[in-house]
Amino acid sequence: MKFAFANDRPEAADTAIYAIKKDALEKADLGLEQSDAIKAAAVAARFSGKSGEVFETFVSEDGNALRVVLTGAGNGKANNIESAGGSAIAKILASGAKHAVIYPLGLDEAHLAQMMFGAQLRSWRIDKYRTTMPEKQKPTLEKITVLDTDMESSRIWADLSAVADGVALTRELVSEPANAIYPESFVERCLELQELGIEFTVLGWDEMEKLGMGALLGVSQGSERPPRLLAMRWDGTGGAQKKPLALVGKGVTFDTGGISLKPGAGMEEMKWDMGGAGAVAGTMKALAGRKAKAHVVGVCGLVENMPDGKAQRPGDVVTSMQGQTIEVINTDAEGRLVLCDAMHWTQENFEPEVMIDLATLTGAMIISLGHEYAGCFSNDDDLAEDLIEAGKDSGDPVWRLPIGPAYDKLINSPIADIKNVGPRGAGSITAAQFLHRFVQDGVKWAHLDVAGMVWADKPSPVWEKGATGYGVRLLNRYVADNFED
Ligand code: BES
Ligand code: MN
Ligand code: ZN
Repeated sequence: MKFAFANDRPEAADTAIYAIKKDALEKADLGLEQSDAIKAAAVAARFSGKSGEVFETFVSEDGNALRVVLTGAGNGKANNIESAGGSAIAKILASGAKHAVIYPLGLDEAHLAQMMFGAQLRSWRIDKYRTTMPEKQKPTLEKITVLDTDMESSRIWADLSAVADGVALTRELVSEPANAIYPESFVERCLELQELGIEFTVLGWDEMEKLGMGALLGVSQGSERPPRLLAMRWDGTGGAQKKPLALVGKGVTFDTGGISLKPGAGMEEMKWDMGGAGAVAGTMKALAGRKAKAHVVGVCGLVENMPDGKAQRPGDVVTSMQGQTIEVINTDAEGRLVLCDAMHWTQENFEPEVMIDLATLTGAMIISLGHEYAGCFSNDDDLAEDLIEAGKDSGDPVWRLPIGPAYDKLINSPIADIKNVGPRGAGSITAAQFLHRFVQDGVKWAHLDVAGMVWADKPSPVWEKGATGYGVRLLNRYVADNFED
């Protein structure tokens, strides 16, 4: 999608978009000759400006049809304005409309940029594998012009467009099938971030073996695809922020379950078991793209979990880089095995003040919170609170769950230091407890279980069904609010 700013509606524009806040229609001046008729039609169609509502009609201007779209801006808060932009674009993306203008009616500079942000997020699609897509389903909209030439909206938009680019990278990585995205190709897709000033470190099997990453490598050993540990460092503070924020992502590029094989039905979904790592990569792109004044490292533990003659068995004991031995009760509880080594390496190498891991870690997370919130587990109340706040504002919501010693003892092993699964109950919490055992003293840590959030079976105002890009808007907001000022 191309975006532009202008004073007046360009002649080529065929669509006019207006965001209307709840119950603000009556007083709205659309600046069109048939303004009153349009408003009367919208009222007749029960359009009230509620978030998510869209009204579309056509008026004639000198014999040409102008498409007019009213989109509900609800309470006028950032989230609602983004939804207004997204809902309008969902309506017209493949409608025949080519060039839309957004009227600034009732919106300030920040609002206008937020509308563009919503529009950009909602226009993302992945059509590369469709060779027989009917002409009528193909997107037609090419350009959106915002009728505002105040510098402020384009300044805010420059930042938000970097965030939208980050979300797009995450969605791409998550959507691609596992024959296209595997550990090596995941790294390759991220290499473009070097151009933004991000420093890369990539470890392969041999380096990880030397470091003693027996837990991560145990998962990888059943796959023909070699593993990777990818670290991306962005310092926008010129060295002023000594201790970085660390983001660590679970990047299981396909999770068959391993020898504890998953049932066949729905297994294709496990191509998005790298959604945590995808969110880390997208966040790094967003932060570097808008030159965030923060020092952040993003680490992705990338493996494929396959059953094979060389695969690890239930009951195997592996030794983590940190030294703790792990009894692998279930090879399908592989995310925590990947993360424990990735997290330990991150702490040893970068000495972060705060470490946040993101993982599609447990099916149990979807049982508890559905697809409405990511679960948050933390050893620090302030950090948990900051993440919840960032979640409210950003559109990537977060809900906190407990951890504690009573849960921790459920993963003691009779043969090793720890086992990789607990009893049936509290599956998401015992998974978090497992990770907690690898957090070093003094490190503020939060674990986000994003199993229910990275993929959507239904479209929303800001995504088509499929990859949501969850995590990028959340972490971008968290960094902006807590590390930059
Ligand atoms: N990647 C899955 C978790 C998952 C399941 C995410 C469904 C999204 C949708 C994870 O590796 C896994 O298999 N977890 C097991 C853990 C169990 C063996 C303790 C699970 O949740 O069933
Ligand atoms: Mn699994
Ligand atoms: Zn998994």
